[in-house]
Amino acid sequence: MNHCVITRSMNKIIKPQQIKTLFFLVSLSLSLNILVSCGDKTTEKKAQEKTEFKIRKKTEERPKTKIVPATIPQSENKLGRRVFLLCAACHNVVKGEAHKVGPNLNGFFGKKAGTKKGFVYSDALKDKGITWSEETLRAWLENPASYVPGTKMAFVGVKKKEQQDALIAYLKEVTKE
Ligand code: HEC
Repeated sequence: MNHCVITRSMNKIIKPQQIKTLFFLVSLSLSLNILVSCGDKTTEKKAQEKTEFKIRKKTEERPKTKIVPATIPQSENKLGRRVFLLCAACHNVVKGEAHKVGPNLNGFFGKKAGTKKGFVYSDALKDKGITWSEETLRAWLENPASYVPGTKMAFVGVKKKEQQDALIAYLKEVTKE
């Protein structure tokens, strides 16, 4: 009895016409859903392609930059080599290796300052007219900026005499041509 009442009232509420409309609405929302997710996929794909392109570009560029490991020659003079590590960020010493922030120091002892080919020195260093010897090098190491005002070498200096001696001996040894 109860059941009959419910079916009858259902029939009153949902007429066949309304079922059609309902069906139409459901299918519309479904197709919209599909459209939206398709759109998402294409933008996702595009973004992925972009990053892939970027990565490809990066790996293609990499071989062009030549990384030359610096050689910091071994020596019996352990202290000298250790002090030289302060200089090694800016200077190579081995013949044929590149200039860095500072010039390659190979063969500099006994030569005029500021004369290495392929390195752009400050006018200050070139005009000072230094010839590199133990004395001039010591003065330079003590305080580059006060020995040659206007130098490009941004380095505070090596103050301890013991370290200066060891470094000078090391440089003499490893910069020999
Ligand atoms: C921050 C980088 C930097 C550091 C560290 C550095 N130098 Fe230099 N060095 C330079 C630059 C730049 C020049 C060129 C200076 C100029 O043109 O005024 C130079 C020049 C020189 C020169 C003169 C070379 C020539 O051809 O006349 C010597 C010698 C030298 N440095 C030794 C040293 C030593 C030894 C140390 C470590 C105690 C050292 N430098 C640390 C950057 C550096």
